[in-house]
Amino acid sequence: STARVKNAISAKPGPYTIETVLEVKHYTDRLFWFRITRPDAFRFRSGEFVMIGLPKEDGKPLLRAYSIASPFWDEALDFYSIKVADGPLTSRLQHIQPGDQVLLGRKPTGTLVLDALKPGKRLYMISTGTGIAPFASLIRDPETYEKFDQVILTHTCRESAELTYGNALVEAVKSDELIGEMAQEKLVHFASTTREDSPVKGRVTDLIESGELFGHLNVPPLDPAVDRVMICGSEGLLKDTRQICLDRGFIEGSNAAPADFVVEKAFVAT
Ligand code: A2P
Repeated sequence: STARVKNAISAKPGPYTIETVLEVKHYTDRLFWFRITRPDAFRFRSGEFVMIGLPKEDGKPLLRAYSIASPFWDEALDFYSIKVADGPLTSRLQHIQPGDQVLLGRKPTGTLVLDALKPGKRLYMISTGTGIAPFASLIRDPETYEKFDQVILTHTCRESAELTYGNALVEAVKSDELIGEMAQEKLVHFASTTREDSPVKGRVTDLIESGELFGHLNVPPLDPAVDRVMICGSEGLLKDTRQICLDRGFIEGSNAAPADFVVEKAFVAT
């Protein structure tokens, strides 16, 4: 009957589900974090991204890619976003409140995953700005610590205030019941700023080229025999850090062909 056909159509799973905002935290006038409900059937690998959005005025969905910033074992999903005053999505998304609804894509994906890397001794996670988001998930995955002896998370931002989220995250991870002990033993956090004085100033790329980074960390320079690298941030960071890796003999990996480094754009949500 017509009614049965209609029911079948409305029951057909769409490309996204409707989720509820649980918590929102604003860090600066450019950065905020939010937490939403997670459907029981929603599975992802640490480091992956998913589509997040809101319905437009005309009711049609407007979605952008966001790295998942929470661990796979968490009951909710976290995201870390920029705010763009005239951005079609973030100009509105930045105003969400607990209880509001957002759209969540059904299919997480991405290359910034442990499966895309060959085994190694030391894992570098190199990030700028909101590019730290996928690493917020990866540094809470026990597999990260099972696969590597040392995990080095670098975060570079313009100003100190933009490092707040990362600082609090690492602190929380180190006192976490599940992975705190592993993180205390293996996780190293390195932060720098480029447009304001702080304990370390400079782009991570310059600090790698000059060797300063390795001096700070007390480790040998990048070596494809033992080091693995994940990169997430601005287009410029990706381009320059990829070249640094290639120049040193690193091979870019993928889900299909794991290798020495992987790259993912920190999606400039608009
Ligand atoms: P800089 O201040 O020198 O541009 P943004 O807030 O624009 O996304 O930038 C985040 C951080 O990424 C800033 O500290 C910025 O430094 C840095 N950055 C921008 N381009 C590059 C690049 N090509 N390589 C390394 N870091 C970069």
